Amino acid sequence: MQEVKLKNVPQTMLWTLHNRATEAMRKDGIIKDERAIEIYHSIKYDYEGDFGKGEPSHAVRSLTFDKEIRNFIQNFPGCSIVNLGEGLETQRFRFSNENATWISVDLPDAIELREQFIQTDERHLHASVSALDRKWFELIPKDKPIFISAQGLFMYFNERDVKSLILDIVDTFKTGCVMFDTIPVWLSKKTISAKGWRKTKNYTTPKMPWGINRNRINEIDQWSHHILEVNDIPYEFPKERGIQGNIFNMFARTPILGKYFPTMVKIKFENKR
Ligand SMILES: C[S@@+](CC[C@H](N)C(=O)[O-])C[C@H]1O[C@@H](n2cnc3c(N)ncnc32)[C@H](O)[C@@H]1O
Repeated sequence: MQEVKLKNVPQTMLWTLHNRATEAMRKDGIIKDERAIEIYHSIKYDYEGDFGKGEPSHAVRSLTFDKEIRNFIQNFPGCSIVNLGEGLETQRFRFSNENATWISVDLPDAIELREQFIQTDERHLHASVSALDRKWFELIPKDKPIFISAQGLFMYFNERDVKSLILDIVDTFKTGCVMFDTIPVWLSKKTISAKGWRKTKNYTTPKMPWGINRNRINEIDQWSHHILEVNDIPYEFPKERGIQGNIFNMFARTPILGKYFPTMVKIKFENKR
């Protein structure tokens, strides 16, 4: 059993692993992910004590990202897929056609833990740097289509840093997508309040300084003339997985309340130079 001593944002990779793996272990689970289950059992950690009972939100998120990336690879075989803040995501093992070069970018402690379970090879690279450090740009061909995914990451940055990173991406690479998930302003405020977001009696989440309400997401297309399209892709909980997901689905789609819900965003860009 592997002991882990992660703190702050890197520790949150165990929260998402917990939710994905417990979902994958259910008979009626929406995600299939043997690799996640294996890693989950290899780490000595009180997942439920810290994060509470497993729930399907992170599996829904992963499956939505999988679907977008799968389409991208089909359209652009041989493209680059960059996962910022990948933690212990086992995404590539959920693919039958992963005809791309995959690059995981995460902080040194996170990559060190990832490499206990997931090894690099010539098509799967690890970059042990902050997503905000543009050094990872050097690993990637500039003229091939690129899909940059950031699951559970941008909320831990501030808006200025997110914007500047996206602008540098769309200025540097020729064409592709940047996809990430967002939290609404009220939730961000809760995490930065004096009490913080106390997920359980043992665990308070790190601060999440960047919140954006969904009615402001279309403003992102004004950040750069290289941005062609910005899509808001809402979480869709499967009906058969309980009342909470159904309530979420219903309210997230109403015009008044919908803006207060988390969502996923996909930016398409092309740099005509
Ligand atoms: C909530 S976890 C998400 C992990 C993974 N994407 C998933 O969905 O399971 C946040 C991840 O962001 C990483 N992270 C935090 N700050 C980062 C930074 N500045 N650059 C790159 N990764 C970072 C953490 O190490 C952790 O792996």
